Amino acid sequence: METSRFLLPGQVAVITGASSGIGRAIAQVFSGAGATVVLAARGAHRLFKVADELKGMGMNTIAVPTDVTVPSQLDALIRTTLVEAGRIDILVNVAGGTPPTAALAVSDDEMMEAFRFNVLSAFHLSRAVAPHMARVGGGSIVNISTALSHRVESGFVAYGTTKAALNHMTRLLAREWAPKIRVNAIAAGATRTEALEMFLNVEGVEQEMVSRTPMGRLGEPEDMALAALYLAAPASSWVTGQVLEVDGGAPGSVWPLPIPSGLE
Ligand SMILES: NC(=O)c1ccc[n+]([C@@H]2O[C@H](COP(=O)([O-])OP(=O)(O)OC[C@H]3O[C@@H](n4cnc5c(N)ncnc54)[C@H](OP(=O)(O)O)[C@@H]3O)[C@@H](O)[C@H]2O)c1
Repeated sequence: METSRFLLPGQVAVITGASSGIGRAIAQVFSGAGATVVLAARGAHRLFKVADELKGMGMNTIAVPTDVTVPSQLDALIRTTLVEAGRIDILVNVAGGTPPTAALAVSDDEMMEAFRFNVLSAFHLSRAVAPHMARVGGGSIVNISTALSHRVESGFVAYGTTKAALNHMTRLLAREWAPKIRVNAIAAGATRTEALEMFLNVEGVEQEMVSRTPMGRLGEPEDMALAALYLAAPASSWVTGQVLEVDGGAPGSVWPLPIPSGLE
C-alpha cells in the first residue's frame, strides 16, 4: 500500500493562523510528515515559540509575523517564503473567524471586515501562490471553513455568510486551476481551541455540544490537522473542489447559546 502518499518530504507549506489551535496542529502534523512549514500569525511572541518548539524537534520551520487582513503583509509572506525556502507546494488558509452577533447589530464595516478576514485573505494568498505552485509542477490549497457555513443558526450571519463564500471560492478555484492545483476545504465542527474556550467556560455548554454530536466528543485540533494532511498530500491527488465535513457526524447545529435577534 502507498502509505508514503500521506507524507510531504521536500514540500514547503505556508500555514496562516499557525500560532494556536487548528493552525498550530497543522504545523505540527505537516512537519512530522516531512514538510518545511512557514508559519504566519500576527503575534510574534507566540509564533516564534511554536517555531522554536518545532525546530527543537529537528523540523524545518520559518516564522513570518503576518496580519492576513493586510495585503502588503501577505505579499511579504510569499516573498520571504520564496527567498528562504525556494518554493511553495501547499497553502493552508487557517486564520479566520467572526464572533457570533445578532444580524441587527452587525454594521456594514463589520460585514466587510468578516469578508476581508474569512475570504479575501485566502483569495489574495491563493492568487499569489498559484503561479509558484504551477512552476514546481503543482500544489494543494486547503481552506479551513466551518460547519456553520451551511448549517443555519441565529447569530452567525457574518461568519456563516463569509465562510459559505469561502466554500464556493474553493470550488471555483478548483475548477479553474485543475489539474495543476487542487483546492479543497474543511468544514470544521466545534473544535477545542482558544477561540471556542470562552464559550466552553459557560456552564453546561460543552455537555450540550457533546450531546448533539454523534461521536460523543468535541473535535480536537489534531482531528482537523490530519484531515488537512490528507487534502494537502498526494494521497488525495484525485480530490479537488470538495468541502470535507469533519464534525463528529453532527447532523445539525451544535451551538447551544441563544443569540437574541433584537426583534423579540
Ligand atoms: N475552533 C472551532 O470550533 C472552529 C470550528 C470551525 C472552524 N474554525 C475555524 O478554524 C480557524 C482557526 O480557528 P481556531 O479555533 O484554531 O482559533 P485560535 O486557536 O484562536 O487560533 C487563531 C490563530 O489565527 C491567528 N490570527 C488571528 N487573527 C489573525 C490575523 N488577522 N492574521 C493572521 N493570523 C491571525 C492567531 O494568532 P494571532 O492572534 O497572534 O494573529 C492564531 O494563530 C478559523 O478560520 C475558524 O473559523 C474553528
